[in-house]
Parts: sequence; C-alpha cells; structure tokens
Amino acid sequence: MDLKNLFRKKSSELIIKETEAKEHKLKKALSVYDLIALGIGAIIGSGIYVVTGIAAVKAGPAVILSFILAAIACAFAAVSYAELASMFPITGSTYNYAYVAMGEFFAWIIGWDLILEYVFCLPAVAVGWSGYFTNLLASVGINIPNYLANSFLQAPNGFINVPAIGILLFIAILNYIGVRRVASSNNLMVALKILVLLFFVFIAVWHVKPINWHPFMPFGWQGVLAGAAIAFYAFIGFDAVSTAAEETKNPGRDMPAGILGSLGISTLLYIAVSIVLTGIVSYTKLNNPAPIAEALKIIGMNWACGLISLGALVAITSVLIVMFYGATRIIFAISRDGLLPPIFSKVHKKYRTPSISIALIAIVTMLTAGFLPINIIVEFVNIGTMLAFVLTSLSVIVLRYTQPDLPRKFKAPGVPVVPILAIISMLLLMMSLSWETWVRLVVWFIIGLFVYFGYGRHRSILAKNNEQE
Ligand code: ALA
Repeated sequence: MDLKNLFRKKSSELIIKETEAKEHKLKKALSVYDLIALGIGAIIGSGIYVVTGIAAVKAGPAVILSFILAAIACAFAAVSYAELASMFPITGSTYNYAYVAMGEFFAWIIGWDLILEYVFCLPAVAVGWSGYFTNLLASVGINIPNYLANSFLQAPNGFINVPAIGILLFIAILNYIGVRRVASSNNLMVALKILVLLFFVFIAVWHVKPINWHPFMPFGWQGVLAGAAIAFYAFIGFDAVSTAAEETKNPGRDMPAGILGSLGISTLLYIAVSIVLTGIVSYTKLNNPAPIAEALKIIGMNWACGLISLGALVAITSVLIVMFYGATRIIFAISRDGLLPPIFSKVHKKYRTPSISIALIAIVTMLTAGFLPINIIVEFVNIGTMLAFVLTSLSVIVLRYTQPDLPRKFKAPGVPVVPILAIISMLLLMMSLSWETWVRLVVWFIIGLFVYFGYGRHRSILAKNNEQE
C-alpha cells in the first residue's frame, strides 16, 4: 500500500471547479437572512427544550455557566468555520476543507464523523418531537396508544414510534422538493420559535425566586463541565450553515455572518432561558423530558404549557429540516468524490436536489427513530461533533501555513491561538463524556476504516485524476 496516497490532497482550484460540473450543480438560492435562519433553525431545538433538564441535573443552577462555557467553546470553533466556509464555497463542510488541508484520509475520517453527527441527530430529535406531539394531543383529549407512540426498546408496552417516523417522512419530502422551499418554510418557523422562547422568558421572569439559585454550584466545576458537555448539544447546528455554502448567492460575505450571527442570537436566548428556568423552580425538578413545560406547570401557569409545547414542536421541526439538509449534503459531497457510491451524488432533474441521498437518509433514520434512547444518542452526537470542531480548527492552522496566499474573505481573528483554544476546550468537553461514549466513537471509526479501505480508497475520483495526469 502506498501510504502517500492516503494523504493525496484536493487543490483549492479543484474544489471550485467541482461545484461547476453540470451533473452535480446545485441551485444558488440562499441569502444572508436564509443562512442566519438556517443556523438558528438548526441550533435552537431539542437542546433547550429537552436536554437542558439532563444538563441541569449534572450542573445544578450553574447550568447557566455550562451554557456560557459551551457557547465560548463553540465560538472559538465558529470563527474557524467562518473562515473556511468563506474560502471554499462548497457543500460538504469540514469534510472538504480537510481534503484540501490534510488530504484524503483525514477528509474521510471527518466525513465519516459528520455522517455520525448529522444522521444520528435525526432519530434522536425526531423521538423528542414525538414526545411533545403526543403530549400536546393528549392535552386536547386525543390519546395515541402507547404501542404506536413508542418503540419496544423505549417503553415496556411500546411497539413502533409512528409520530417520529411521520415527521421524518415529512421532512424528507420537504428536502426532496428543493432548497428554496426548505429555506422559506424554515424562516417562518425560526421567527416563531424565537418569539415563543422570548414569551417564556417574559411571562416566567416575574416568578423567579433567587433561593432556587442556592447552592449555585452543588457539583462544583466538575459538574459545570459535565453540564457543558451535554449543553453543547444545544449549540450544534451553526456548523450546518457551512453545508449550504454551495447554494449561497454570495458565500464569501454571507457565510461568516450566517455562522456567527446564528450562534450569537441563540447564545443570548439560551442564557436568558436558563437563568429564568433555574430561577423559577429548583434544578432538581428539571429532570423531565419537557423541562420548560414542567417548570411552568409547577409554578401554576398551566395555560402557557400548550403554547410552549407548540413552540417546542416548531423549534424541533426546524432542527430536523436543517440537520436533514446537512446530512444529505455531506453524503452528496463524499459520494461526488468517489469515496461513497456515485448514486448518492446524482441530482434530481427537476428539483436539483440529491434525491437518492435524501431517500437513503429517510429510510435509515425512519427505521432507527423508534429504537434509539435519546440520552445515549445525544452524547454520541456530541462527541462526534466535538471531534469535527477539533479537526476544523486544526485545518485553519494548517492552511494558514501551507496556503498563506489563498484569498480569505473572512479571516478568523487570533490564529493560531483561537483555534488552539477551540481544540483544548473541545478535548476538555470530550473528556467529560462517559467512557461508553468513547467506545461507541471508536467502533464507529473502525467501521469507517473498513468502508474506506474496502471501497473509497480504490474509487476515489482524485486518485483517478492523479493517475491520468
Ligand atoms: N442544537 C440542536 C438542538 O438543540 C441539535 O436540537
């Protein structure tokens, strides 16, 4: 085996040329507002509505600090995403950046990692959606039988999670018919979910009792870090903006604004929500699948629960739309390079979307939606995403040294210090996750190695091009 081949790199010219190839050409339809909405669409969802409770149990009221720490760590990584997405307006996100900076093998590793992040996010989020949906219907007297609302692995008398499968099918159809329509339905949902969270803050802030913040840090800094490693999940999604670079009208200018703008707005909202939430009830009451609705019930504001649940449904739906979109684009990009079968990068004649990738993700996520316990998947998705952030930050440093003259429409400030801080903070968060999660990560990559050495390495388009030259 020629080891040099593992590190064959795409040139930045090649990256641009690829996006122009007719059979793979995607429609350029997204504006800066679409991108910010895309980011917020992916960021604010089951994290704040479902996972906050899990993080609060680990950190206590100091979950506020967990959110802030996770946000700072993400901001360090986000500037790297912004720089790279403005340099390479191509779909596939970090996967493609790594292909230029560090070569094919690293690109495959990160691509496989991104498939983990995006694909596994979907069933977990869909199951969260199903929980709120079932609750909301129950509150108006419509009861979905347990065997149709839970998989048999989730609940003792469950069989299949029909609402989770239904929402995934709906999202798949939206993605199938085209990016513009996805963006416009997403923008509306994003506006609504911001309003609902602001509404929660506004009605609940009057019920804050400072006693609930004492003791503020019952589990010390270790608890805060463990909470941050979970709360991190709530920020995943700003990176999904970069998967849309190839479909953006003016990526050089709009990518950084989309990535940093969506992260900033979500962070402010999370801080406000977590301060109020831990102020109105004791953190010990937040270990619930619907902590925000539960807190409102405890303080006697039942009337607001329905609205908040509706807001949660809308929020989680838009996360599904964007993460689904991201998942199809990652697989599309990897397949276009020959590292996965070519059928996944074929673009639909009429809708100009990667229809076969969409169908594949739909089938896989619908089949798995019923069987995956949320907390385990959240940790798994987090560790995969943290690793992606590490590799992205590393790519920025490597490219600054290896390709200093490439035009950078947005330059990340403080390189290499800021990317190094991103790497350190991600590793710190990764180390706060359970060893079982690490084992799952290793198993996932062993499978990935089999796929690469069994298929991709021999089918790589880059390898074929290099041979012809
Ligand atoms: N950040 C996304 C959410 O909270 C994954 O649902």
